[in-house]
Amino acid sequence: MARLDPHSYNDSTQPETETLDWRARVDFKTQRLHAEVTHTLKEASAGPLDLDTRDLEIRDVVDAAGRPLPYILSPSEPILGSRLRIELPVGLRQFTVRYRTAPHASALQWLTPSQTAGGKHPFLYSQCQAIHARSVVPLQDTPRIRIRYTASLRIPKALKAVMAASFLRREEHGVEAEEHYEMPQPVPPYLLAFAVGSLAPKELGPRSRVWAEPELLEDAAEEFSGVDDMLRAAESLFGPYDWERFDLLTMPPSFPYGGMENPRLTFLTPTLITGDKSLVNVVAHELAHSWTGNLVTNASAEHFWLNEGFTVFAERRILEVLEGPEVSALHGALGRRALDSALQHFRAHPQLTSLRTHLAGVDPDEAFSQIPYEKGYLLLRAMEDAAGRPAFDEFLRRYLATYRFRALTTEEFVAFAEKELPGVLTKVDAEAYLHRPGVPPGAPSPRSLRLEAMDALRGKVPTPEQAKDWTPAEWQLYLESLPWDLPRDVIQQLDARFSLTESRNSEVLVAWLVVALRAGWEPAVARTETFLGEVGRMKYLKPLYGVLSASHAHRSLARALFKKHGERYHPIARQGVELILSRA
Ligand code: BES
Ligand code: ZN
Repeated sequence: MARLDPHSYNDSTQPETETLDWRARVDFKTQRLHAEVTHTLKEASAGPLDLDTRDLEIRDVVDAAGRPLPYILSPSEPILGSRLRIELPVGLRQFTVRYRTAPHASALQWLTPSQTAGGKHPFLYSQCQAIHARSVVPLQDTPRIRIRYTASLRIPKALKAVMAASFLRREEHGVEAEEHYEMPQPVPPYLLAFAVGSLAPKELGPRSRVWAEPELLEDAAEEFSGVDDMLRAAESLFGPYDWERFDLLTMPPSFPYGGMENPRLTFLTPTLITGDKSLVNVVAHELAHSWTGNLVTNASAEHFWLNEGFTVFAERRILEVLEGPEVSALHGALGRRALDSALQHFRAHPQLTSLRTHLAGVDPDEAFSQIPYEKGYLLLRAMEDAAGRPAFDEFLRRYLATYRFRALTTEEFVAFAEKELPGVLTKVDAEAYLHRPGVPPGAPSPRSLRLEAMDALRGKVPTPEQAKDWTPAEWQLYLESLPWDLPRDVIQQLDARFSLTESRNSEVLVAWLVVALRAGWEPAVARTETFLGEVGRMKYLKPLYGVLSASHAHRSLARALFKKHGERYHPIARQGVELILSRA
């Protein structure tokens, strides 16, 4: 037996699935998918085959002729879920599992009409990264095993089903519609994704359209109108785009992430719609995953930095092409600040602060932090500085060409980098980034003129003249560098001058609310309350619930707000907030 991924029951001595055919009926009344999935193996085989499942009710397992196959569903384990062991008779290549999902399936969020912008129709979506695909489909839920698939979703006729795959056709039968999709390129299971709701499309360019609830469509299309330029900038850096289309889906506000790089259909939080395109770096980030992550994939959550560190690096290179080096340096500076606060947060778990982690017995959602993103970025920046940009660009291109449609480990990355850029890893002390806690002393520090101008301010309230050209990123940076013991009258002055409590940019707003709440400034409380009732993005829930529950005066408010709104958050976000409240 060999388990190569600590988060999967997959046994690498067993046969692998090559393709899936998944058919599901979406039942909004019972909040279940009634589904069946046919696995076709890479080769005919015999003996036990272990699949990952979580909270699935298995009806039966049958062969291609409909004859039942023996199986055992083991009791659920806390992180991995239940192992489904199927006994394959000699020569079998195909089998079907019939099952239904649980209303609390960890990958799914079922929204009532009142939780949507239109208020008339329900909404359903999936979020499978890192290990939630198993709560939707029984499969080998490890990114080492890539699958092609076809899928069909039966839904109420008034709704539209979209998938991170290529659309084939829609059929209507009575009160239901059935939408058919196909993913011809092999993808890791965490990239399986779909959404069902009242959705309409608008074209953004030859390869892109945006989907949103009709009420949000125009604003979304305006905000993301630069996507085609972005696609071309990315191709100029990383080579041809391999996924044919780059469509965007504007999610309901409870979506727990800023963005999710589902292939052909990136999912985006509606909090990016600010009216001024100031948060489109998230789109650049998800687009960059089309190369780093979706083509070249981390072998398990222990090598997550290979997905995210490379993608942050690629995101900032795209920003540099589109908006110039100053803007990308500012984002680098914001990233460094996020890294320092993540290191502080994980100070009791230094083993989780190296890039290469060891996660047996650790839930990847709990290990999640900005560290693989920003420490990974710093390692790649250090390598770029040491090798020189032309050589590093060449290295990147060879890395992408060598590992495309494959998964790799940190150890394979090291061997590849040593061969391709001899001496560079030693020169930058890559060991320290990969295997030791904290940030190595010689790490690059993003520099920019605008940054230095801001540093000179050092926590003082800027005059309207000084701040008149500040971008939201600069505001965020300024707010995040304010000292913890800021007197309340400074807070009051800042809000009176710059109306920060009314900011439409959620990054600025949350940075502001954290500062104001920390200083015990009461007018921030009401805005925090409404915000926590509207938005379910974990990046915001965590600091806001964190700062409320850290204060004596607001701890019970934090609990009350969670009690009131917790049901409206995605299961993954709910779990994250519960953890914060339980530690308070
Ligand atoms: N793939 C991640 C989101 C994710 C990570 C989901 C781990 C589940 C488990 C996505 O690409 C991401 O990093 N999103 C960021 C965007 C940011 C770094 C620009 C986010 O959601 O904030
Ligand atoms: Zn990412």
